[in-house]
Amino acid sequence: MTDLSTIKNDALQRVEETRDAVRLEAVRVEYLGKQGSISSLMKTLGKMTPEQRQTEAPKIQELRANVADAIAARKAELEEAELEQRLASETLDLTLPAPRPPEGSVHPVSQVMDELAEIFADLGFSVATGPEIEDDWHNFTALNMAETHPARAMHDTFYFPQKSANETLDNAPNARMLLRTHTSPVQIRALKERGAPIRIIAPGRVYRSDSDATHTPMFHQVEGLVIDRDIHLGHLKWTLETFLKAFFERDDIVLRLRPSYFPFTEPSVEVDVGWQDVDGRRVLGGNGDAPGHGWMELLGSGMVNARVIAFAGLDPDEWQGFAFGVGVDRLAMLKYGMDDLRAFFDGDQRWLDHYGFSPFDQPTLSAGVGAPA
Ligand code: PHE
Repeated sequence: MTDLSTIKNDALQRVEETRDAVRLEAVRVEYLGKQGSISSLMKTLGKMTPEQRQTEAPKIQELRANVADAIAARKAELEEAELEQRLASETLDLTLPAPRPPEGSVHPVSQVMDELAEIFADLGFSVATGPEIEDDWHNFTALNMAETHPARAMHDTFYFPQKSANETLDNAPNARMLLRTHTSPVQIRALKERGAPIRIIAPGRVYRSDSDATHTPMFHQVEGLVIDRDIHLGHLKWTLETFLKAFFERDDIVLRLRPSYFPFTEPSVEVDVGWQDVDGRRVLGGNGDAPGHGWMELLGSGMVNARVIAFAGLDPDEWQGFAFGVGVDRLAMLKYGMDDLRAFFDGDQRWLDHYGFSPFDQPTLSAGVGAPA
């Protein structure tokens, strides 16, 4: 029988001499693998007499343990050394100049949202947000659309499946989750959180089950809300006019307010903006009633319904105000001249190269919120 201590010394020396993980693994297989020399020693135990086995087994097991320990220790050493070497070679000098200028562009929707925040900040509005996964109460009920309200049907809502069989519309109608169909639920959330007086805009994604050249299942809106004492329709009209003049960067923006209906505003007004024909293109501005001019519907708005103010926990006899909601993608299309909404969300690099903005084009009121010349 081979001398155990010779095997041990050989093995430990071989392990010590390995310089990398591959060779170490080869040594491990040679001794401890299925066909390895120490493994075959273990197999000889079966043919021994019980007495012989009692003295030999512990020795062979100890040999196996010693070699296995040495291999594990060597493995850790090699890994440590490899890490040290990588850390030493992979240095990064942050003071070196960039090899090329930053790539990529800011999406027009993001740019327009930044423009809106800048314009409204100047008017004393702050930005509020709410969840895109909303509950029924905030999206509908608190906005004066009860479960049976016909206006709900116009919203093409994406509902989430009910969590369990007992969670039916009958016992938890307000807890049903959905993708918000408009940014108006942020009116409720902001009023509940911050109380009145309040001046906010709430830009964000909204979802409706609808798709063609001017509708995508996900699109963007910005909500505006002002609640204070003695707010009236004149404040709404002035605010929208001031905003649109700043946004489109022209003074000849003319608005037309038409009576309309939303459950959450009373009275409700739909706002049209005047356009004129310039070389076959509709350009905003000018008197919508003159020849070659016209009106296009731009946004929905109105005085916040007293019931909504009560749902948000405020006294409608003390507080009133206005709200409006407008499509951000629509604003971007009108301002920057895109004609197919679907291209906004295709992620086509050529479209982004053409319509995107440089990260350095920060919209500011002093330098202009429009496209750089
Ligand atoms: N939430 C309405 C919509 O999505 C727009 C709106 C907002 C109307 C606020 C009035 C007041 O169509």
